[in-house]
Amino acid sequence: MAVDAAAGKRMLQCVAHNRSMAKILMVASEATPFVKTGGLADVIGALPPALRERGEEVAVVLPKYRGVVLENPARVYDRLQVWAGSLWTVSIDRVIHRGVPFFFIDCPPLFDRAGIYNENGTDYPDNHIRFSVLCQAALGVLRHLFRADILHCHDWQAGLVGPYLRHVFRGDPTFFGTKLITTIHNLGYQGIFTAAQLEEVGLGRELFSPAAMEFYGDINLLKGGIVYADAITTVSPRYAQEIQSPEHGFRLDGLLRSRRDRLFGILNGVDYAEWSPEVDPLIPARYSHRDLSGKLVCKRALLQEIGLPSDNLDRPLIGIVSRFATQKGFDLIADIAEAVSQEDVSFAILGSGEARFEEMFLHFKRTRPDKFGVRVGYDNSLAHRIEAGADIFLMPSQYEPCGLNQIYSLRYGTVPVVRATGGLDDTIDPSTGFKFSEYSGQALLNTIRIALAKYQDHDSWRNMMVKGMLKDYSWNASAGAYSALYKYLISLELAIR
Ligand code: ADP
Ligand code: GLC
Repeated sequence: MAVDAAAGKRMLQCVAHNRSMAKILMVASEATPFVKTGGLADVIGALPPALRERGEEVAVVLPKYRGVVLENPARVYDRLQVWAGSLWTVSIDRVIHRGVPFFFIDCPPLFDRAGIYNENGTDYPDNHIRFSVLCQAALGVLRHLFRADILHCHDWQAGLVGPYLRHVFRGDPTFFGTKLITTIHNLGYQGIFTAAQLEEVGLGRELFSPAAMEFYGDINLLKGGIVYADAITTVSPRYAQEIQSPEHGFRLDGLLRSRRDRLFGILNGVDYAEWSPEVDPLIPARYSHRDLSGKLVCKRALLQEIGLPSDNLDRPLIGIVSRFATQKGFDLIADIAEAVSQEDVSFAILGSGEARFEEMFLHFKRTRPDKFGVRVGYDNSLAHRIEAGADIFLMPSQYEPCGLNQIYSLRYGTVPVVRATGGLDDTIDPSTGFKFSEYSGQALLNTIRIALAKYQDHDSWRNMMVKGMLKDYSWNASAGAYSALYKYLISLELAIR
């Protein structure tokens, strides 16, 4: 099971009390196929159906952003009113996706906008109001539409569920015994707002205390999610350890250490129906570990698509698909760009985000068009073709809670070169990829050189590809760990009674 040993043992002891399956309501800000900016969407799109296959009853609450297209939605609630700075009226639409009800919170003044969290690089100033309305509407879903035993909240956008549940609705019998799980997908994003904004989201001044939501003079929504949670999870066992240290704790490490008996690391899974070269409709040729010939077809097509000369076919091709954020280690790539372009290698790069990294990669493309194929933007189908067409996948992250692309890469026979941190360390071993520890350009360059040397030895390279392709990170194991956690929480309730 993909949890660390001590946590797993604690859970299993309690699962002995097994009760009937719990009903789970997830609250999140994105999910495939409806809306996606990163890995959170992959998780919320795939974990609930995997739980359902295991017999759990699960539903999801999401905002209805402008880009969300729903097929035959049912309007299941009209005119729910919540207070956040002023009175907001929301309606709720439901679709069933892969057997799971998804409830969409429709509030056009808050969600019918060009962006999800920001526009032109600037966060919406009323994000606290937007996600307060999401959280309060989720409690409305629980009250009127889906009587869950467990609220499973993801990231800071769902962080206010806990404070509402434990303060505003403290005496409300609807929520007696309701358990709360907060999953941290990335501690680097906490939802920090001013103290004055606490009142705007309808919470009292008493929550402006270090024991509640106060955070260095501001309020912190993720902290609210952690303080009131019955269990806290994060997306790999290694990251669950790391976030308890000042280096990776983003100033919440003390709080997380104080809650370590309720903190679990559960590795994300992969939806192989979507990310597998045997079935992927978005790549030019399909292949498997038994017959790799299609991968060369994919590489040839990728070189052309990304504007690299076709004589690169015999050189190793390094792929990158990423948000361009400091977290992802791109300053290391800046340090070694000159040295690495002397090597016999080329790059296929897709991403968008911080302007300085977009400019950096476009600069490489201008100055070394023979080596750097770069596409700035968000393009899911090109992401699949890079996974399939590249030989090596690069993720030199400063920190990485789980990381999905390296796991996709394994299945596509695209050998990962990663920094040994968080989920990258948990998922890549020396038989399937290359890792380095020190966060430096030199360490990255050395590791790329080791990988390039190994690439020349065709048999052992092929061996490595196949070992990676045979790894199984399907959701089933991870969903099993969440199921065990749900049972654990329900059994705690029994123990109290
Ligand atoms: P994070 O959530 O931190 O961005 P993950 O590795 O968990 O990192 O997940 C990233 C997801 O977003 C993957 O599914 C990846 O393919 C996708 N992705 C990231 N950037 C892009 C992009 N520019 N175009 C298409 N897909 C992208
Ligand atoms: C976050 C993390 C990433 C993780 C994803 C899904 O965006 O940065 O490492 O894979 O969430 O859990």
